[in-house]
Amino acid sequence: MNSERTRVLTGITTTGTPHLGNYVGAIRPTVQASRNAATEGFYFLADYHALIKCDEPTRIQRSTLEIAASWIAAGLDPNVVTFYRQSDVPQIPELTWLLTCVTGKGVLNRAHAYKAATDKNHAAGHDTDVDVSAGLFMYPVLMGADILMFNAHKVPVGRDQIQHIEMARDMAASFNHLYGEHFVLPEAVVEESVALLPGLDGRKMSKSYDNTIPLFAPSAQMRKQINAIVTDSRAPGEPKSTEGSALFQIYQAFANAEETQQMAQAFADGIAWGDAKQQVFERIDHEIAPMRATYEDLMQHPDKVERMLQLGAEKALERSAPFMRELRHAVGLRSLASQAQVKTEKTSKAAAPSFKQYREKDGQFYFKLVSAEAEVLLQSKGFTSPRDAGLAIAQLTTDGASALDALQAQLEDISRPARDKVLENLSFMHLMSDK
Ligand code: TRP
Repeated sequence: MNSERTRVLTGITTTGTPHLGNYVGAIRPTVQASRNAATEGFYFLADYHALIKCDEPTRIQRSTLEIAASWIAAGLDPNVVTFYRQSDVPQIPELTWLLTCVTGKGVLNRAHAYKAATDKNHAAGHDTDVDVSAGLFMYPVLMGADILMFNAHKVPVGRDQIQHIEMARDMAASFNHLYGEHFVLPEAVVEESVALLPGLDGRKMSKSYDNTIPLFAPSAQMRKQINAIVTDSRAPGEPKSTEGSALFQIYQAFANAEETQQMAQAFADGIAWGDAKQQVFERIDHEIAPMRATYEDLMQHPDKVERMLQLGAEKALERSAPFMRELRHAVGLRSLASQAQVKTEKTSKAAAPSFKQYREKDGQFYFKLVSAEAEVLLQSKGFTSPRDAGLAIAQLTTDGASALDALQAQLEDISRPARDKVLENLSFMHLMSDK
């Protein structure tokens, strides 16, 4: 898995019809990123994830087609990137199990989506797990497998997904610690400049608020929906505020800086809402219309999309199949014919890294982080109380990198390579502390 280029990977869950918010937040930026020749792209339809939220087979199938067609129509080139359907890669659920076995259950208890569901149950006076599937609980592990299967370096996601990428990192570190270096530690990429698009009612555009504008609605329908975006009651000629205007923000997501500036001026000059909406429609349609024909053609000919995905599955399997063989061997799922290895290899799991606390002659309290191989990875300076030393240890185990920075003054300097090793060991200890 050692190709030179940075591997970028992201998926979209196949539960709905793509809307303008999905386009601006996910489809358009990933298509732009896919054109960077210095990267190797993996873009996929997360249909196993869809099963967690949706039990309507025809909707899953329809959404898979719509999202695939939208991505292609928006310019994703399946000849350049690996474009595939998650469920065509059987090694992903297989890896999910291997990762499940190195992930603390307590870590998953704290995953946002699961916690939101259980908090809601508590608030309603129900038992913790009422109506919570084990699929929802395992969501972060399946996502970790998506990412680690292709050893992605960078994962472009929305802000709400950062925790999942951090968990994938921890899973990678934990697996590497137990079984040797197999996984790259992935990083989330959150594009600050990517607009969060407001919907018809001014709240974030989201299927759950029923305030979306479909990406590929026929032109006339899109015009009608843009006319339905909420505005205030200011009359033509009255100056209008761009601040908090959903219409203005939507325009901005499609316009360049100069056009945005002109629209702001038009607002200040009291443009009529009807005229502003007409301009917003025209600007969006200008970008979307050329894609619409491709989209409609693919929707009429799903077999074309199916062929692209089959090709993508083949490319994906060229990576996932040999890598999975390597991973199976690493954990001990091996042919029995190779007896020699059974005898020579140590059978126990690696010893665990740990913190040692002690008091020096100067009366101060110290700690050090010792690796499984008995190497000192981190050395503290003196603390006046054992409690403060203990708190610093707890902070390091739960917060990792940010704690290393925060506690810098209380720690002896560490070099850059040593820092990565410290972080890997801390992630591992964090993960295991919840078992
Ligand atoms: N969970 C992501 C979302 O809802 C979709 C997803 C699934 C994903 N697997 C992934 C994103 C792997 C990035 C990498 O947005």
